[in-house]
Amino acid sequence: MSSKTPKGEKLYEGKAKVLYQGTEPGTIIQYFKDDATAFNAQKRGTIAGKGIINNKVTELVMNNLEMIGIPTHFIERLSDREQLIREVEIIPLEVIVRNTVAGTMAKRLGLDEGIRLDRPLIEFSLKDDALGDPLIAEEHILSLDIADEEELSEIFDMTHQINNFLRGMFAGIGIELIDFKLEYGRLYDEEDTGYTIILADEFSPDNCRLWDMKTGEKMDKDRFRRDLGGEVEAYQEVARRLGISLEAEDGRKQ
Ligand code: C5P
Repeated sequence: MSSKTPKGEKLYEGKAKVLYQGTEPGTIIQYFKDDATAFNAQKRGTIAGKGIINNKVTELVMNNLEMIGIPTHFIERLSDREQLIREVEIIPLEVIVRNTVAGTMAKRLGLDEGIRLDRPLIEFSLKDDALGDPLIAEEHILSLDIADEEELSEIFDMTHQINNFLRGMFAGIGIELIDFKLEYGRLYDEEDTGYTIILADEFSPDNCRLWDMKTGEKMDKDRFRRDLGGEVEAYQEVARRLGISLEAEDGRKQ
């Protein structure tokens, strides 16, 4: 994991990312790995070049979302695999948006994948690997004080806005946004007197489902999860359609 970016101590190593303390207070460096896991890490592998693509796709999505008024933790991309972000208190929820039935929703409810939902569905899972990120209801979130009503209402508003924007963005490049996962955090102000809720984590083909509108081909991590093959090419094609260059600064193809 060689990188010339100056950084502080390693704070956390997850399945697909490593977090380091940034050199400025209140900042973190997010490093994107090629490692891929599925089914709560029961399946492990790597997708060559994935970290670079996910770093750059996240940069593009976060910058676009900032432009439509969604506050995010993203500050700037530092290198091919690293980005500087604001330190937040992560709300331990996986906020899942579904436009079309797929994945665990299809399985849990005995539905066919591909059924379009008349209205987008927002689901919550508790972020807890040991428990397998169980699905929870809004009432659990409130009763267990994971977030309060005001926070939940902000999360719903922002999530719908993000979904509307991203569906359009992907439709523009011939891709249907089937579902995705978001995480939010609390950004405390400097005097520690208050905070705002902002979008955190990442947005990449690792945590969304993307289907080619013409062919129905899967262009996301399901290629890895389901042993479909062609995951490297699928991630590259998403980057290419988004206009993301994968050339290194010295002109080498990565
Ligand atoms: O597996 P499931 O169908 O519930 O996933 C819904 C969406 O959330 C998918 O796009 C998946 O990639 C994403 N997800 C994720 N991280 C998880 C669970 C789901 O990124 N831990």
